[in-house]
Amino acid sequence: MRALIGLGLVTSLVVTVGCSGESGASASAASSSSGGTAHSGDPDAGEPVVELPALPALQHTTVLPDLNEDAAIVEVALTAEQTSHTYRGSAPTQVWAYNGMVPGPTIQARVGDRVIVHFVNNLPEATTVHWHGLRITPEMDGDVHHVPAVEPGAMFTYDFIVPDAGSFWFHPHYNTPEQIERGLMGTLLVHEATPPIFDAERILFTDDVKLTSGNTIAPFLTSGPDRMHGRGGNVLLLNGRETNDAITVQAGTRERWRLFNGANGRTMELSITGASFKIVGTDGGPLPSGYTASRITLAIGQRFDLDVTFDGAPGSAAQLTSHILMLDANEDVVEVPVIIQEFVYDTAGARPVIDVTVSGPDLPAVDYSAVAQKTLALNGINDNGTVRFSINEYISPNEEHWQVPMGDMTVEIVNQLPMEHPFHIHGQFFQVLRRGTSVADEPGLKDTVLVGGMQRVVVTIHFNNPGSWMYHCHIPEHSEVGMMGHVHVMADGD
Ligand code: C2O
Ligand code: CU
Repeated sequence: MRALIGLGLVTSLVVTVGCSGESGASASAASSSSGGTAHSGDPDAGEPVVELPALPALQHTTVLPDLNEDAAIVEVALTAEQTSHTYRGSAPTQVWAYNGMVPGPTIQARVGDRVIVHFVNNLPEATTVHWHGLRITPEMDGDVHHVPAVEPGAMFTYDFIVPDAGSFWFHPHYNTPEQIERGLMGTLLVHEATPPIFDAERILFTDDVKLTSGNTIAPFLTSGPDRMHGRGGNVLLLNGRETNDAITVQAGTRERWRLFNGANGRTMELSITGASFKIVGTDGGPLPSGYTASRITLAIGQRFDLDVTFDGAPGSAAQLTSHILMLDANEDVVEVPVIIQEFVYDTAGARPVIDVTVSGPDLPAVDYSAVAQKTLALNGINDNGTVRFSINEYISPNEEHWQVPMGDMTVEIVNQLPMEHPFHIHGQFFQVLRRGTSVADEPGLKDTVLVGGMQRVVVTIHFNNPGSWMYHCHIPEHSEVGMMGHVHVMADGD
C-alpha cells in the first residue's frame, strides 16, 4: 500500500472576472412566490379556510409549480433529460438537466409538508434522485441499496414529509461523478412555518464545470488529478453561468442568501466585501443566534444561509468573491480572488434597514469534550496505478455496515490522506465538536463537514431517523471508488 499524495484542489482555471459590468439587471431572475395560500378547507362543510403566511419571492431560480391544491401537499413534476445550456459566451453545451435548467428548478415547501415528486427519467442511462439533507425514509432517499435505479424511460414517485426547515438540494446518486457534472442538481427549500420576509431572498448556487474549448463537457477521466481530488472545472459558475450581470441594490437593503456548492472537486472559499453578513443557517436549518465570519468555507454539498445587510454608501459596490487556488509560474500554490457576483449601490439615498429575524428550534445540547465512541478512518490505496478510497479499510461496495441505537453518538472522522474530504451522512444531522486539537467554532446542524488533509474532526451525530443510511465523501470520484459505508439506525424493536 502506497500513500496517496496531493494538496487541495489546484487547477488551471481560466479566470474571467465574473461580472459583465452591466448594472441594473438582476441575473436571470425568474422569481415566483406562492403568496398567501388558502388552505383547501371546504367552506360549505364548515371547514375553516386558513390563510397561510406568504412565502418569500426567490431570485435566480424557477420554482416548480405546485400541482396540488391542498396547501399541505406540494406535488411537482420533475424530468431528467438531455438539453442544452449556455455556461459561458453564447455557444451552448449539451447537458443533462432537471426540467431543462442548470442548476435545476427549486422545489419549495413549508416545514411539515408532504412533497410528492413525479420523476421521469429521460436520460440515456439509469439514475436516482437523492434528497440531500432531508430526514426522510431510506426508500425515498435515492440510494440503490434500497430501491433500484430508475431506468431510461421509466418513472418513480418520490413521496415524503419534510420534517425540517432549511436549504436542501437534490442530485443523482447513480454514476454520480458524471451525472452531477453534466448538470443534474436542483434546490429544495423548506421554509419556516412563518418565513421571515427579507427585502430579497437569493439562491446562490456555486459550481464549476470542465468544458472543452468548443464548450462541450470535457471527457471524464478516471485517473490523475480528477480521481485524486474530484474533477476540477475550468469554468467557475454561479447559478449555472460563468458571468452574471451586476445587481443594483439600494443602501440599507437586507437580504437572505442561500449558498450551495454543487461542484465535484472544489471547496468554495467565499468572502463578501462592501456589505456585512451573519451566518443564520446551516445544512440542518436556521441558526437563530447566528454568528459572524470573515470567510465562508463552503464544502461540496454543504449549505449556509446568510443575513446580508448592504450597509455601504450609495454609489459604492459590493462583491461576492470566490478565492481559487492556482499554481503560479514557480508552481507555488497561490490564491486568486474571482468576483462571482457584483452588487452596485444605486445613488438614491439609503433606506432604513428592516427589522427581520430568522428563528428556529434550539440546537440539541452537546458536550464539546465528549470522547469519540466510533472512528471512521478515511484512507486510500494505490493498487498498481488504480487509486481506490476506503473507510476503516473497507472499500465500497465491500463496505462497512454497522448498527447504532437511536440517540447521540460521538464519532471521530480521521483523514489519513493529505487531500481534503467533505464527509456527508444521509438522513441525520450532526454537530461539529472539535477540529484538530481545537474546539470547533462551527455552530449549527450539519450533514456535511470538510475534513482537511491529515485532519481529525469529532462530531456528535443525532441518530434519530431509523433505517440504513449511507455516509460517504461528497467528492463523487472518491465515493464511487470506495469511500462509502452504511450505518443502520435501529428503531425500537429492530
Ligand atoms: Cu449529496 Cu449521498 O449525497
Ligand atoms: Cu474524498
